[in-house]
Amino acid sequence: MPIYHKLGKIPQKRHTQFTKPDGSLYYEQLFGTIGFDGMSSLLYHVHRPTQVSAIGKAVDLSPKIAVEKNIASRKLIGFDVAPKDDFLESREPMLVNSDVHVGLAAPKKSMTEYFYKNSDADEMLFIHKGTGTLKTFLGNIPFEYGDYLIIPRGMIYQIEFDTEDNRILFAESFHPIYTPKRYRNWFGQLLEHSPFCERDYKLPQDLQTHYEKGEFVMKIKKQGMLHTLVYASHPFDVVGWDGYNFPYGFSIHNFESITGRVHQPPPVHQTFETSAFVICSFCPRLYDYHPKAIPAPYNHSNIDSDEVLYYVDGDFMSRTGIAPGYISLHPAGIPHGPHPGTYEASIGKTKTEELAVMIDTFKPLQVTENALKIDDGTYYKSWVE
Ligand SMILES: [Fe+2]
Repeated sequence: MPIYHKLGKIPQKRHTQFTKPDGSLYYEQLFGTIGFDGMSSLLYHVHRPTQVSAIGKAVDLSPKIAVEKNIASRKLIGFDVAPKDDFLESREPMLVNSDVHVGLAAPKKSMTEYFYKNSDADEMLFIHKGTGTLKTFLGNIPFEYGDYLIIPRGMIYQIEFDTEDNRILFAESFHPIYTPKRYRNWFGQLLEHSPFCERDYKLPQDLQTHYEKGEFVMKIKKQGMLHTLVYASHPFDVVGWDGYNFPYGFSIHNFESITGRVHQPPPVHQTFETSAFVICSFCPRLYDYHPKAIPAPYNHSNIDSDEVLYYVDGDFMSRTGIAPGYISLHPAGIPHGPHPGTYEASIGKTKTEELAVMIDTFKPLQVTENALKIDDGTYYKSWVE
């Protein structure tokens, strides 16, 4: 997160003595990415953060691939994913490659029995349904419909839901997730042409420090395995921290779409970037205003990227037979475009209420067994007249 934030108590000078009321020392931890080159935060723990008292069984969470080399456009009926009690068990990878796993989850219960961290991947959780609180060792972030939650790798967290009706689109990214560099000046500040600004971020707040020692179950995702460890002190024992590496939220409803006289290309919708895929937000907006404009997009060949669209709400202008929660996959290798009728029907329309998240990956995506279970199977023929 390219802005500075701090919570709780920290010493005036880094790497110096920081004492508890009883005179003993707090334990400093540098929490960073990309070696010592990326963004980092300095944390101050009540207890040593290194106290592992037991290591239990590991479970293989590697996605089960059904179609390794895919050429078919596909439509997945996302809300057909069955809800499950546990947050991690509810997560079903759908479309995956070596850079990112895109999936769906319908968790019913809050995470209370254990803590979790993903040491392989930054996580993006897009909240389609549900409200609650992302609780982390750096503070809490309340979330609601339309929020992206960006959770850097290694972040210890729990997730608390207010009800059992929750739907999440997730991306586990094996590359750091950033806001697009072109939106920022060389100091890191978001520029005037950026579709959002620093005020829109939901930063961690309400840092809660736990002092308990005991047995605390920690589930760690690493190399596709879910390891279960026991920590000897409460993982949320940070009294203060500062820096740039922390989780944050951003509401898709705060994305200010860029419009033009003629159709604007997908990059104007870009919200996040990595070195291997982008995440874009298609939001309610006014249509193109050239007198002869065609608001629906032109056919396009994403020769070197696969396109995943997740439909959130509204009427998606260029598609027929689409409902909230659906995913469409338009793979590299064949062009795609508006469905028959939608190109012409868009002429003269002045605005759209569509709301969708797009993930474009530079490497082809593999289709998992989970995805085939909710694949309508005929979508690739849907452009035939
Ligand atoms: Fe497209």
